[in-house]
Amino acid sequence: SSNAMWGGRFASGPDAIMEAINESISFDQRMAAQDIAGSIAHSAMLAKQGIITDNDAAAIKEGLLTVLSEIENGSFEYSKALEDIHMNVEARLKVIVGEPAGRLHTGRSRNDQVATDFKLWVRDQMDAAILGIDALIRALVDQADAGADMVMPGFTHLQVAQPVTWGHHMMAYVEMLARDKSRFQDARTRMNESPLGAAALAGTGFPIDRDATAAALGFDRPAANSLDAVADRDFALEFLSCSSICATHMSRLAEELVIWSSAQFRFVTLSDRFSTGSSIMPQKKNPDAAELIRAKVGRITGSMVGLLTVMKGLPLTYSKDMQEDKEQVFDAADSLMLALAAMAGMVADMTPNTAELEAAAATGFSTATDLADWLVRELGMPFRDAHHVTGALVAMAEQKGCDLPDLSLADMQSVNGAITDTVFGVLGVHNSVASRVSYGGTAPAQVRTQVARWKEILA
Ligand code: ARG
Repeated sequence: SSNAMWGGRFASGPDAIMEAINESISFDQRMAAQDIAGSIAHSAMLAKQGIITDNDAAAIKEGLLTVLSEIENGSFEYSKALEDIHMNVEARLKVIVGEPAGRLHTGRSRNDQVATDFKLWVRDQMDAAILGIDALIRALVDQADAGADMVMPGFTHLQVAQPVTWGHHMMAYVEMLARDKSRFQDARTRMNESPLGAAALAGTGFPIDRDATAAALGFDRPAANSLDAVADRDFALEFLSCSSICATHMSRLAEELVIWSSAQFRFVTLSDRFSTGSSIMPQKKNPDAAELIRAKVGRITGSMVGLLTVMKGLPLTYSKDMQEDKEQVFDAADSLMLALAAMAGMVADMTPNTAELEAAAATGFSTATDLADWLVRELGMPFRDAHHVTGALVAMAEQKGCDLPDLSLADMQSVNGAITDTVFGVLGVHNSVASRVSYGGTAPAQVRTQVARWKEILA
């Protein structure tokens, strides 16, 4: 049979393959609540403008709320023949309320409808991402607070560089996630314009009030150009790019947790709640959650590249290509929220191994820079010369198979006669971190300042 929505022009219904490639109800049913909210706002505005009667608007609203409850209680039957969520809802509304249902679509098209629904859905996910980031930031700040004095190696090239504090390392991720949060906030502000009332692409001759529907749906204003309103998917792309960067940050932390929890490092112990065992090796405790978070970025960034590629070169305005926007965003959103939650749980539960961290902090001649700085400060040596002298001392220690603090004063003086025994005061890892008091440095005092600032922000 021909289609109930546009049957007028068609003699036969679609081929089964046509229906299969065309349908989106199998996934866009996730926007049911947004679709119904948009339709209620639209019909209320139509009545207020005298375009439909108050009675019709009331019948439409009641019917839509019935449809919503059917969807929520699982009794709603989705039909692929009805293509998408918009037509599924409207067809069911017709069965429930009859004739007034046919007036709902006045001055509207599925093009502005789908853009509106999708924006509402993405906007909710931006809010959810912001909450998820806050929870992870909170867990990291708590770790930093507890480990502000705890010393660990800081790395460049994954080679020991200088001692840092555990708290400082945790707070580095806090800064990264804070930027992620502000990116979502910026994107949310930019996207918050209503496409509703752009109709198919050109606007409508009906005396609609786009400010009213925009306000009813929590938008700041109506989108100013009807062509752009139905063609725009920037909001989805921005959600995906914000998500990709955030997931990238989490993948770096995840990678560190994988390394740190290994028997070779033993920097952290992950909780049983966020680890798994092996079916063959009884001793195993694997950081699966960290590995999966490390991997989720692949899906999320893949979605971003996928949708950018769908949108690239599309002529204005709507093309059916754009129906391919949703699965990408749905999958990325699900992956991001799960990764944020898992990371927050893992971070909250993990235990830094103080003794291992401190022992590792002292390896790799990690206080060589402190020694060079001492030569500059105490002997007035130019830094480049101090670097050279220190390099010679490191080579000596390496040759003797000991660490810098294990060299004798006589050893030191054989390289530079002016060195005195106060040099040993700067070779310990605690002294090293305590000395890094420059703003944003690793000194426990600096870390405490940052922790306090963040606790205030989060309060
Ligand atoms: N299911 C469609 C989508 O997700 C809705 C818009 C359809 N508009 C149209 N002119 N066929 O993009």
